[in-house]
Amino acid sequence: MLDIADSAPAAAAPSTDRWPDRHLLDIDQLSRAQLEQCLDLAVELREQRSRRSAPRLLADEIVGLAFCEPSTRTRVSFQLAATSLGAEVVDLPIEASSVTKGESLADTLRTLERTGVTIIVLRHPMSGAPYHAARSIGARIVNAGDGTHAHPTQALLDALTLREALGTLEGKVITIVGDIAHSRVARSNLHALSMLGASVRLAGPPAWVGPFASWPGVQIADRLEDAMAGADAVMTLRIQFERAAAGGVPTLREYASRWGITEERMRLARPGAPLLHPGPTNEGVEVTAALAAGPRSLIGTQVSNGVPIRMAALALLAP
Ligand code: NCD
Repeated sequence: MLDIADSAPAAAAPSTDRWPDRHLLDIDQLSRAQLEQCLDLAVELREQRSRRSAPRLLADEIVGLAFCEPSTRTRVSFQLAATSLGAEVVDLPIEASSVTKGESLADTLRTLERTGVTIIVLRHPMSGAPYHAARSIGARIVNAGDGTHAHPTQALLDALTLREALGTLEGKVITIVGDIAHSRVARSNLHALSMLGASVRLAGPPAWVGPFASWPGVQIADRLEDAMAGADAVMTLRIQFERAAAGGVPTLREYASRWGITEERMRLARPGAPLLHPGPTNEGVEVTAALAAGPRSLIGTQVSNGVPIRMAALALLAP
């Protein structure tokens, strides 16, 4: 058990039993109860952090940030999450590391481990890299996004943001629009949203949504308007220019006119339905600038929830 009792009223304190797995690689390894435990703990830690009284749950840990792809939100929020809970943080600048001298990923991470790092937060362009790392080294691995595969902490913060906006995800319809095929955010969200009782509609260029036709509980709409009709929330995604293959990809102008989220299209959703985007956004392509900055946008809330969700995930994984 983690000791947060000092600063939390006993009756309201969320369960702090650690997760059984040593690594957080994707959402599908968690049970619904473990997922909800993370959301509940994040709420508690968010409140404590705002009062500057977050417990030093990671005081014995050294967290290594190994980001082999660009990142703003994820990297900064993991760093703040770890330090808020009393951990030491070492940021491995990959471009200045021995990886550039030909050292393998496993050897580089093993070097971090030998210097005392106990938890490694890894972002990597290759799908599956964190699984390989988890098998190769002793430190705990947190997947901060691997290729097109998974981004579990983004799905957790999206679930928290949606749960707070909608009250519950049970029975809600969440529409995800865009480049699903190359989005690790979409894949982890499909696991999390269906686990929490929501149904998911997908819409986007056929080449980007077609591969999900057989995903359990997912509906694919041919027209954006059908996917948006009556939706409880809409999530749009960045086109993954760095991963999207040439075939079947529309031009930006075509994409914006058929799949871009505008205020008019948002009116098809349930009145007041919120809009989410994991960021970074290409305004004018996936979403209009006015909508992204407007009252229905939860994009800023998603970023803010990144810190407490990552606090909770790190605390539940810590040795
Ligand atoms: C996402 C990612 O890196 O997968 N960004 C993020 O973590 N907030 C989405 C993206 O880059 O499009």
